[in-house]
Amino acid sequence: MVNRFEREFAKLHEQRYGVACNSGTSALHVALEAMKEKFGWADESEVLVPTITFIATSNACIHAGLKPVFVDVDPISYNMAASCMEKHITERTVAAIPVHTFGQPCDMDAILEVTRKYGLRVLEDCAEAHFATYKGKKIGSFGNMAAFSTYVAHTITTGIGGVITTNDLTLTEIFRSLIAHGRACTCETCLDPRQVCKLRMQTEMDKRFMMVRMGYSYRIGELEGALGLGQLENRDHIMNTRKENAHYLSEGLQGTEKYLQLPEYPDYVDHSFMMYPIVIKKDAPFMRDEFTHFLEKNNIETRPMLPLLNQPVYRELFGEIESDYPVAEWLDHYGLYVGCHHGLNREQLDKIVAKIKEFLQNKV
Ligand SMILES: Cc1ncc(COP(=O)(O)O)c(C=O)c1O
Repeated sequence: MVNRFEREFAKLHEQRYGVACNSGTSALHVALEAMKEKFGWADESEVLVPTITFIATSNACIHAGLKPVFVDVDPISYNMAASCMEKHITERTVAAIPVHTFGQPCDMDAILEVTRKYGLRVLEDCAEAHFATYKGKKIGSFGNMAAFSTYVAHTITTGIGGVITTNDLTLTEIFRSLIAHGRACTCETCLDPRQVCKLRMQTEMDKRFMMVRMGYSYRIGELEGALGLGQLENRDHIMNTRKENAHYLSEGLQGTEKYLQLPEYPDYVDHSFMMYPIVIKKDAPFMRDEFTHFLEKNNIETRPMLPLLNQPVYRELFGEIESDYPVAEWLDHYGLYVGCHHGLNREQLDKIVAKIKEFLQNKV
């Protein structure tokens, strides 16, 4: 089940190889460690990450002994701004992790222009953007590799889990080894129909319990694989309903643009809407907390928009750097998202729209 899920998931994201593991964070961690090994990166080499992302993106760099260097994001897409990358590149920079936040693809042409110019490797964090496309091509197929989360809050889920995809066979073998304690054996499974290990065991040393690198226990099991396959079968319904729901919210919220910034994206991207981001404009006569408390009181769940630099743990690690990143600073304090998932019905979506409008009416 796991191997079928890996193959199917990779194929649907236009990549040759997929390796499933137990979280999106493990996927990012293993992806970075594999590149560190293959490309010979020194400890504390620098990796560019956006200032708006779930903390796992930059945490994975730290777990892999690398240094995350923050790049501010674009005020409309909320994704890493290519125009802000160059000023953070030093002789120690080895890679960039564009994150396709909320399901919206990054401007990959502009980002790849910078990474190619400086010879940087690219790991796409696709945790929030399964099946999204940029200029007709699946996200996750632009860089050296991509990491996906299949945690329950994500679009295609295995309960908990993640997948790394790539076209690079050497890296795939390192991923397989890293997720299974650093084993020398990199067969997909001991049940591999080619029975490479079994045949080899008759003539040479058994590699299945030979450990050649420091590894982790990051595998998933057949139950997660089966869930993933079921989700993939259902993907058209999941993806289409999310997009329809997001468009329905945008239509319903027409007229609120004076104070709210709604999702905006060019027609050459196919947004997969893991969630529905809303940002309060700076001159609005209310603060985010007042708005979200009102919605929560009315049983409409919200989350703050992936603040990173002002997290207590990062303030301790990196100091008070939020004000160096004006777009992130705005989004950290004014950005939020509501759900647009395929479990919501029209009545519930109408309620979200009605309550947002009710709040605004009482404010103006
Ligand atoms: C952008 C991004 N990267 C990585 C992750 C980590 O995934 P997981 O929770 O499966 O470890 C998440 C999870 O929400 C995410 O949103």
